[in-house]
Amino acid sequence: MNDPPAGRAGPVGHVRPDGPAGHRNLELETLLELSRALEGAPTGFEAAALALRTLVAEGRFAAGEVWWRAEDGPRWRTIGAGADGDRPDAVIVDEVMASGAPRRVEGWWLIPVASEGVLGLGGGPDVSGSFLLGVAEVVTATAQGGHLRRRLEEKEAQRSRLLRALLTAQEEERGRIARDLHDQIGQSLTAMLLGLDRQLERLDPSGDGAHGELRRLRGLTAVTLADVRRIALDLRPSVLDELGLAAALRRFARELHERYGIAVTVLVEVPERLSRQVETVLYRVAQEALTNVVRHAQAAEASIVVTVSRGSVQLVVEDDGVGFDPAALAPAERIGLIGMRERLELLGGSLRLESAPGSGCSVHGRLPLP
Ligand SMILES: Nc1ncnc2c1ncn2[C@@H]1O[C@H](COP(=O)(O)OP(=O)(O)OP(=O)(O)O)[C@@H](O)[C@H]1O
Ligand SMILES: [Mg+2]
Repeated sequence: MNDPPAGRAGPVGHVRPDGPAGHRNLELETLLELSRALEGAPTGFEAAALALRTLVAEGRFAAGEVWWRAEDGPRWRTIGAGADGDRPDAVIVDEVMASGAPRRVEGWWLIPVASEGVLGLGGGPDVSGSFLLGVAEVVTATAQGGHLRRRLEEKEAQRSRLLRALLTAQEEERGRIARDLHDQIGQSLTAMLLGLDRQLERLDPSGDGAHGELRRLRGLTAVTLADVRRIALDLRPSVLDELGLAAALRRFARELHERYGIAVTVLVEVPERLSRQVETVLYRVAQEALTNVVRHAQAAEASIVVTVSRGSVQLVVEDDGVGFDPAALAPAERIGLIGMRERLELLGGSLRLESAPGSGCSVHGRLPLP
């Protein structure tokens, strides 16, 4: 067992250029090629296996083997490549792994990688110590990158699950409050209104002022009833569940026209009822987009168009208002826009925004249909 001949560089492969500079160039080329081949390897084991295949397939080494620590069961998980020679014993591989440094063993180079495995290369030329460390570095970095990527993906999946649960809970809660407001408080206020009307009929309008007071109370009750209905509608319109997206959007558009005077045309060309989830997301996106139109656009007209084509549903909300530059917004200034995108992306869809100062705004949402 020799230590790697650091500094005493030998040629790597079948070409044998003269002089140490030539050796080093070839080694560097090999390392570059290796890092290209390993790009995006998903796990440490994959990275080591790819390194093995690359180095053996390119003819740099005659044989190779990867020993990877198994999570359970047998101590090592191995794969080999190239001509079968006498491969180093698992006990020696253990030792190399523990030492953390590359070692020469009976014609084999054993290189610990990613603190989880050993890459063995046999039947090859003499190589420099820095080449061996370079191989270890490339495989380890790829393995760690893969590890980080996986953790990020897991985190992202976890975030999506939480967000979905949150939005579902929020919709249910809103639906319940909207029903309570509409059915209970709304009913009571309607009963009060009718009772006040009956009293008003009995009282003499030119009497002692009670009539005037009652009229004032009746007015207040009517306004409160309208408020309760509006709040219930904003929370979750029952038409969305009962009659579907088209009816709910038309109702919302009418409401905006009555409240703010803006003309909103609604065109929904959908062959049948969509799933509750899809309808809810489209309704919420349209609601946010139109609320933005009312709050920011100073538009006279707006439109909502929903169409289905090629297995997906498209929603476009457009206005002829002042427009804005989406790229100029800081993340903290676009929470509403981010919310629209997140709702769509949770169901595998996407959001596109087109706007520029002076030329209105259009919001394009797309959702795949099952
Ligand atoms: N239709 C529109 N016309 C003009 N400007 C718009 C329009 N929609 C959005 N904007 C601009 O984009 C910004 C971000 O919109 P976003 O909905 O994310 O936030 P917001 O409406 O200001 O607040 P909220 O978080 O309550 O929705 C707005 O503040 C506004 O400047
Ligand atoms: Mg907004």
